[in-house]
Amino acid sequence: MLRKPEDRASEKGIEIHMANAPRPLVAGNWKMHALGEAGDALARGIVERWQAMGRQDVDVALCPPATLLGRVGRLLEGSGLLLGAQDCHWEAEGAHTGDISAPMLADAGCRVVILGHSERRQSHGETDEEVAAKTRAAHAAGLKAIVCVGESKAARDAGQTATVVETQLAASLPKGVSAANTAIAYEPIWAIGSGRTPDMDEIGAVHARIRTLLANAFGASEAFSVLYGGSVAPANAAEIMTLDEVNGVLVGGASLDAGAFCEIIESCG
Ligand code: 13P
Repeated sequence: MLRKPEDRASEKGIEIHMANAPRPLVAGNWKMHALGEAGDALARGIVERWQAMGRQDVDVALCPPATLLGRVGRLLEGSGLLLGAQDCHWEAEGAHTGDISAPMLADAGCRVVILGHSERRQSHGETDEEVAAKTRAAHAAGLKAIVCVGESKAARDAGQTATVVETQLAASLPKGVSAANTAIAYEPIWAIGSGRTPDMDEIGAVHARIRTLLANAFGASEAFSVLYGGSVAPANAAEIMTLDEVNGVLVGGASLDAGAFCEIIESCG
């Protein structure tokens, strides 16, 4: 039996009025996939389906690897689809071989950037403090940051999900965060690429905790986009999107298939 968001939130002493929620955001994280022609074909396939759908009530971002930002960006021109990146440096410029700054991403046409993804936290040792600095840099460059948080399997098994998520979130968000410049993505690490997801009540509960923290720190939590990510697919997207606290999804594997990604978009709203 699902509890209503109001009930979950009232346990924490806040009120959530999801009627004020922004329209859903669907972001496709291509990760380290696609060479030029394959990326073009994927972007074209998504643009064609998106235009046929005629949806005005969903925001959609494609986040290809940095090498494809220019060419995918050109294919998205005039489509209403947003270009996004998967990371940025916390400084605007400097001696940082191999890194890309937020102003460079904005210059390449990006509107959003994914930050603090668990794959970067794990394989590049990114800390919450670095994620906060990157988020600040994204804001300064006019980019919307999608800040990712999520617990490991071990933390979940130890009953630490809420603590991990709250700790990450509190330390990963700089001053100046607003619903306009930041979205949060809850991505349980064990759900990414595994075909497994938490049950709906768990997703709703974690999202309610995230909204409580946002409300306490930044006010008006319902205005924020809080996305779910981790094995989102056409088969489960609609159910996940029925949760009142969830207003968007961050999609990995399924975003590499234009048909599957657009089915996910269709199931929003
Ligand atoms: P999957 O959708 O492949 O599980 O990946 C989720 C993810 O990491 C998106 O950022």
